[in-house]
Amino acid sequence: MPKSVDYLATQADLGITKHMGGLAASLKLYSMCSIKKGDYVLDVGCGIGLGPSQIAKKYGCRVVGVDISPRMIEWAKKNAEMEGASSLVEFRVADAQKLPFEDGTFDAVVCESVLSFIPDKEAALREFMRVVKKGGHICINEAAWSKEPTPEVISYFKTFGSTILAEKEWLSLFEGAGISDIAHEAFKVRVIPELIERIKLLGIRRMLNAWFLLLSQYIWKPRYFEVALEGAKASGKFMEYTGYALFAGKKK
Ligand SMILES: C[S@@+](CC[C@H](N)C(=O)[O-])C[C@H]1O[C@@H](n2cnc3c(N)ncnc32)[C@H](O)[C@@H]1O
Repeated sequence: MPKSVDYLATQADLGITKHMGGLAASLKLYSMCSIKKGDYVLDVGCGIGLGPSQIAKKYGCRVVGVDISPRMIEWAKKNAEMEGASSLVEFRVADAQKLPFEDGTFDAVVCESVLSFIPDKEAALREFMRVVKKGGHICINEAAWSKEPTPEVISYFKTFGSTILAEKEWLSLFEGAGISDIAHEAFKVRVIPELIERIKLLGIRRMLNAWFLLLSQYIWKPRYFEVALEGAKASGKFMEYTGYALFAGKKK
């Protein structure tokens, strides 16, 4: 059993966040949400903010990205500038379980690889439903078991602060939250395509920068290396159990 690691804090230090399926999964999710020009979109748990910039540039939408981590939001602002998307995106520190927006504000709520890390998933979903307009879309990409996990596998992922569910468990959670007309599709993860998609999502420059930060931090804080190694080990050893699923539904 690995030591418990602060996975998300380490990602914030290194300026990288990711979700399974990389860029291809995001693009598919956006198309399932029927995002169109002029929409007002919320990306919950936006991490370093690549999602909001992509949506803004691809669809010409205004996008708000929120994340619970102030350091993620700092990265997100820098990245939006680098991506030339600053005029269309805005970022705020906020908790998915208590969003600082009026009821019915957004045309779509997007959320990728965040609910697995949230203790009260029902509260977050209630908030997504509250802030989206009637007829608006809720679109979620989450890690999903692709094979019945053993107790060892479940507790391994818990050390990363992550509670993964099966596709049908996610689905019943979303239906329970009142999301209707849910389209969903599950995917298995294979090492090489996954790596390529993650590079496409983050870009070589950000990957190299993260590796440079990781190596330089190692001198002062060996924990960083442990975290990276644990992550790589978990992905390799348990990859056969993990996949992801995309869900897109509506508020009626
Ligand atoms: C695995 S990262 C995914 C980030 C981004 N969506 C992506 O796909 O690259 C999970 C993100 O969720 C954020 N997060 C965790 N709990 C949260 C909460 N309660 N409210 C908002 N964001 C949260 C973390 O800070 C982190 O940036």
